[in-house]
Amino acid sequence: MTDSARSTSDAVAAPGAGDFAARAHRISKVYGSGDARVIALDGVTVGIPRGRFTAVMGPSGSGKSTLMHCMAGLDAVSEGEVFIGDTELTRLRDKQLTRLRRDKIGFIFQAFNLVPTLTALENITLPMDIAGRRPDPAWLDRVIDTVGLRPRLKHRPSELSGGQQQRVACARALASRPEIIFADEPTGNLDSRSGAEVLSFLRDSVREMGQTIVMVTHDPSAAAYSDQVLFLTDGQIVDTMQQPTAERVLERMKGFELPGVGAR
Ligand SMILES: Nc1ncnc2c1ncn2[C@@H]1O[C@H](COP(=O)(O)OP(=O)(O)O)[C@@H](O)[C@H]1O
Ligand SMILES: [Mg+2]
Repeated sequence: MTDSARSTSDAVAAPGAGDFAARAHRISKVYGSGDARVIALDGVTVGIPRGRFTAVMGPSGSGKSTLMHCMAGLDAVSEGEVFIGDTELTRLRDKQLTRLRRDKIGFIFQAFNLVPTLTALENITLPMDIAGRRPDPAWLDRVIDTVGLRPRLKHRPSELSGGQQQRVACARALASRPEIIFADEPTGNLDSRSGAEVLSFLRDSVREMGQTIVMVTHDPSAAAYSDQVLFLTDGQIVDTMQQPTAERVLERMKGFELPGVGAR
């Protein structure tokens, strides 16, 4: 069976399915009203498999960031349900949602969002410090070794390269061992070498530590680090690809985009 024939069935989760770290069931997101009305997500059903690295691709404005924000509980859906593990986000009150985001979800953004006055190590443990939780020392050690920043732990962000700063942000997301990490264009601000460092790290954290990661990217070679790619167009998942290569992803994207139109 080809990827196209397989369509979205690999990624689609029936409610109650157990091997997904996160699921969305027929979610829609509408911004604005009247002439300004935008349907950013149009009935998306998707499951994010546990312990795998999923990439999300699609043209600019196709709803990639909206999908991440809705699945991570940073933005409310207009319709449908979102689950993190067995917990339905869309039913939680604000306080419960805040706690779930803190305990179960990690974020990596295009801007690294590090605190400039804190060292790398202090930045990594900051969310747990705020939550009054002590990091598991063995786990923290492993995360630090996987990021490869042990000699840099006392450095402040301004003393680190872009790639190193983003690896600190990755370690910060991993430190609390979240159920799932959402990364929106995590290599968007990095040169290709630093980008490759961060992508290898994300892939290793999935392969070696069983982390679940969903990453938005517009770069086929970044998507090639993932286990599967979801393709989004006009607020809908229109295709999936397993074990992607940069060449196959690029080929597939040609079908979705007008020549010369960027995918950011
Ligand atoms: N806060 C918002 N208010 C109004 N429209 C928005 C908002 N956020 C996103 N949109 C619109 O929703 C659509 C999807 O946006 P987005 O999810 O950011 O796309 P992508 O990340 O794929 O580029 C776009 O048409 C965008 O203009
Ligand atoms: Mg976006």
